Amino acid sequence: MGPIINDYAWSRGGGGHSWSGPAQNALNGIARLFAEFITAAAGSARVCGIIGCVSDEPVAEILLDGLKRVEYRGYDSAGMATISGSRIRVKKGAGRITEIEQKHGLSSMKGNVGMAHTRWATHGGVTDRNAHPHTSCRETVAVIHNGIIENYLELKRGLSKKGHRFKSETDTEIIAHLVEREYLRSNDPLKAVTSAVKKLKGQYAVAVMFQDRPDTIIGARKDAPLLLGVADGKMFIASDILAFIEHTDRTVFLDNHEVVELTKDGYRIFGPKGSQVRRAPTQVAWELSDVSKTDFAHYTLKEIYEQPATVVSASMQDPRKLSEFASSVRKADSLFITASGTSYHAGLLLKFRLNKEAGLRCDVIVSGELREHTGFLRKGSVVIVLSQSGETADVLGAVKEAKARGAKILSIVNAAGSTLARESDIVLLLNCGPEVGVAATKSFTAQAVVVNLVADAVLGKKTNGMKELSEAVRDVLQVEPDVKRLAVKYSQRPDFYFVARGYQSPVALEGALKLKELSYIHAEGMAASELKHGTLALIEKGTPVVVVNPSGEAHAESLSSAEELKARGADVIGVSDQEDAVYAHTIKVPRVQPKFMPIIEVIPLQLLAYHAAVAKKNDPDYPRNLAKSVTVK
Ligand code: F6R
Repeated sequence: MGPIINDYAWSRGGGGHSWSGPAQNALNGIARLFAEFITAAAGSARVCGIIGCVSDEPVAEILLDGLKRVEYRGYDSAGMATISGSRIRVKKGAGRITEIEQKHGLSSMKGNVGMAHTRWATHGGVTDRNAHPHTSCRETVAVIHNGIIENYLELKRGLSKKGHRFKSETDTEIIAHLVEREYLRSNDPLKAVTSAVKKLKGQYAVAVMFQDRPDTIIGARKDAPLLLGVADGKMFIASDILAFIEHTDRTVFLDNHEVVELTKDGYRIFGPKGSQVRRAPTQVAWELSDVSKTDFAHYTLKEIYEQPATVVSASMQDPRKLSEFASSVRKADSLFITASGTSYHAGLLLKFRLNKEAGLRCDVIVSGELREHTGFLRKGSVVIVLSQSGETADVLGAVKEAKARGAKILSIVNAAGSTLARESDIVLLLNCGPEVGVAATKSFTAQAVVVNLVADAVLGKKTNGMKELSEAVRDVLQVEPDVKRLAVKYSQRPDFYFVARGYQSPVALEGALKLKELSYIHAEGMAASELKHGTLALIEKGTPVVVVNPSGEAHAESLSSAEELKARGADVIGVSDQEDAVYAHTIKVPRVQPKFMPIIEVIPLQLLAYHAAVAKKNDPDYPRNLAKSVTVK
């Protein structure tokens, strides 16, 4: 495999970052490290964290550290269960992990087998009782779960009739009761979980402990990520590799409908028909510093600052795969792009280039809506799917629909082991490393690079200039102090608008999305041409409006929009390589090849959103009500 970009290499040494060496080394370095990882979030409730460990030493502190590592995914409650003295002990509650630790002393729980969980409520409110782990009637079985059990009410009614009493309002608790019932019949943990999960409809990743099997955890998954970590004298089960990366980088990804038995010495995986599946661990090379904040106040800021490297690592694609991807695009009878949120905005960039330059007709459809457009999908159709996590439920739903109609799935994804990557015919990886901040920042930049590689490959062009782009990204980060001043100045405004034309329009949408989710300020992004069709009515004295306006084709028209806005009292903030008197403030950005301008323009907008959040004392890493991976519909 050779790199596409042969003029630049990213290598790591002495704790710092340096540019050097042949590009192939770079593939063996950070890009490969990143390519192998999974940050896939799981889904009990919305985006919960699972970690279980079977060891030959006490596990409580290991589990607590693991929980802290998956904290970034957002949660409202947490808990832990261990087995000691032939009893399952559970400590749990609503609140932050540190509070629960202070109150219950999770880290002093005894036992060499245990599991822990961060919950994001869906079924049942945010209460101590609803936190996981959940236990069965006799408290002989404990369960943690990510996902949603769609038929839980029906199952609960059936179990209640048979005398089961429930302690929580969750869908998860029924799994503990079902497993207990099956275990009483078979006295075999593996069989008990296998038959219990067969009764479940919906999504699940579960880990189950049995009081009288203090050496075993059983796991099972369907449509929610679950993986194993293999260390000496310790085995892990988790929803996210970050949960155990401190202990091992040897990982086994589980597939849908598989059940696994974990002991401290190993694991046995069983497929849907009950036969054993042999799967060796994959080495997931990783560096802990990649998942820590280092000197940055927040992950979000760290990830914004990683973008000079992101553009290079994203550009390192296997040329064969890229040309296969491009040739499938060219040959498609009909072409669709689908994604959600920020990834959708990157999809819009691809659409612009394929439409305008390659003359290919294609539509971009938000994944949650693809179902409404499937009439156009058939054998011969190609669907390009973009996703950072590869676990977004809307995205996976769209893929399912498209596959059912015979379409080919080409994906651009960050998480190599994700469900999307596995469901796709061809995968291009973003190689941008774990994105911990809930708001997508560097993954958008990586997507913007990869979609340009794809568009160039479709056009039969070589992509050049990554070195220059990386340097320009580094330069644009210098605007941070100015952007921070603007963020503070406008942080108390109720509304913000972002406008642009043509290829820059997705940047306006992305700027508005970032500001909304981090600062909680109402923001709208739109094509500048649309202003006069309604939104101008909302402009009053001092309304901040960002106009993304690079020099080029649409520059003059966007300046006219800026004039119109100014005439109605707006404070126009120009994001441009050219200053103009119409702007109340100019965020001056470097000029790069037009196809890469969105990358340069989006970075000040990421910083604007970040600093507005900080000015409003919001936590930019964990915006309220949002999850990193939205794994339920
Ligand atoms: C916004 C954001 C979300 C995600 C969306 C899709 O900052 O992070 O809008 O872009 O939930 O997620 P992925 O790309 O993981 O499918």
